[in-house]
Amino acid sequence: MKIDVLLGLQWGDEGKGKVVDVLTPNYDVIARFQGGPNAGHTLEFNDVKHVLHTIPSGIFREGVLNIIGNGVVMDPVIFKKEIDNLNKIGVNLEKTLLISKKAHLILPSHRILDAASEASKGKTKIGSTLKGIGPTYMDKTGRNGLRIGDVLSADFLEKYNFLKEKHENILENYKFEYDIAQYEKEWFEGIECIKQFQIIDSEIFINNLLQENLSILAEGAQGTLLDIDFGTYPYVTSSNTVTAGACTGLGVAPNKIGEVFGIFKAYCTRVGSGPFTTELFDQNGDKLTELGHEYGATTGRRRRCGWLDLPALKYSVMINGVTQLIMTKADILQHFDTFKVATAYKIGNEIVDYLPYDITIPLEPIYKEFKSWKTDISKLKSNDEFPQELKEYIEFIEKETGVPITIVSVGPNRNETVLR
Ligand code: GDP
Ligand code: IMO
Ligand code: MG
Repeated sequence: MKIDVLLGLQWGDEGKGKVVDVLTPNYDVIARFQGGPNAGHTLEFNDVKHVLHTIPSGIFREGVLNIIGNGVVMDPVIFKKEIDNLNKIGVNLEKTLLISKKAHLILPSHRILDAASEASKGKTKIGSTLKGIGPTYMDKTGRNGLRIGDVLSADFLEKYNFLKEKHENILENYKFEYDIAQYEKEWFEGIECIKQFQIIDSEIFINNLLQENLSILAEGAQGTLLDIDFGTYPYVTSSNTVTAGACTGLGVAPNKIGEVFGIFKAYCTRVGSGPFTTELFDQNGDKLTELGHEYGATTGRRRRCGWLDLPALKYSVMINGVTQLIMTKADILQHFDTFKVATAYKIGNEIVDYLPYDITIPLEPIYKEFKSWKTDISKLKSNDEFPQELKEYIEFIEKETGVPITIVSVGPNRNETVLR
């Protein structure tokens, strides 16, 4: 059996959580492969909204295992809060959630370093979620990190203090005030919570499952344009959010990858700093924010909104080897008379249809305008019922990207999903 991957093609928040939840009944296992609590994945069913940060989005379906893979970075404090909240609503994961020994730990001092680094950058700040993601991955690649497997070792506290002191020395160079004590207490409570779960060699476990023909869906966090290598660097996150990240973040070989579901919004959003060519600063932008409820699931920050950026989408399709596209929030465009899609950019007098290396070059989007369908599509159940204008929009994107759109999401609820 091969492992399928679902990941974001824009700057995150494409609706990954919702669609993973919809697809979970087709799988035995859901596995997160990168990122950490910078993610906020929203699921809605039975009139309740759930937001997950570290925990995979397959947990609400019975009989499914969920794995936090080696590529993930975990904050024990946030993890414990997620577990406590789930326990309160009767969801107990001790038997069905497995954690890789090789996933890295976010320390309280990583969070402080993140905040100090951002504060020192002033206007050039990344707009990080301040969850300590960057400093933790820096310690991973710098070969200083603490891993989940370490919590079981006798000298864990010693290792913790060694790394914390290293961070305190770095923090002396920043003029940044901080108080670590309370957070540290919660952190060690979180470590005890983690110990109640099965801590495993997840790469071996996952490859054995594939050998036994069990089906696995790898759930991406963030999006391709936030990828550390291929995103709008330096305004990116610190992990590989692309399909290749599922190989390194779970320990599966490239020839084991099956379907790649690439998910995108029918328009575009971004939270945090960095270039956004199709960003709208007018009433249409405000309308997308308000009707789309475009406020971050992790930080509550207002998301910047704009029209779909086709050259960027094609780039993401290429980098990920997307085999099926999933379009979300199509229902938001029904509130407009017309909407636009950028098909290329103008740089001076030159027209280009790719993302240039230099993100400081101002790109002027060249737009194609579409007529909206102007009818409520949120209750529709099949492609045949779709209004003609929506069909035309879907077919246009399919033709441009060369990839079929197999799922159209028409609302936040798990039922508001059309399989084509
Ligand atoms: P993720 O990070 O990719 O999982 O996405 P988020 O959960 O951060 O943001 C997506 C938001 O859009 C959430 O509030 C979802 O409930 C909502 N959502 C997902 N799909 C749709 C859709 O098709 N229509 C509407 N109106 N909302 C959606
Ligand atoms: P999900 O999985 C949207 C953005 C931050 C910031 C940049 C770096 O919910 O789609 P970091 O905290 O990683 O150092 O922040 O990346 N960012 C996200 N934006 N969705 C996310 O996750 C994000 N995770 C990080 O806003 O611009
Ligand atoms: Mg999100």
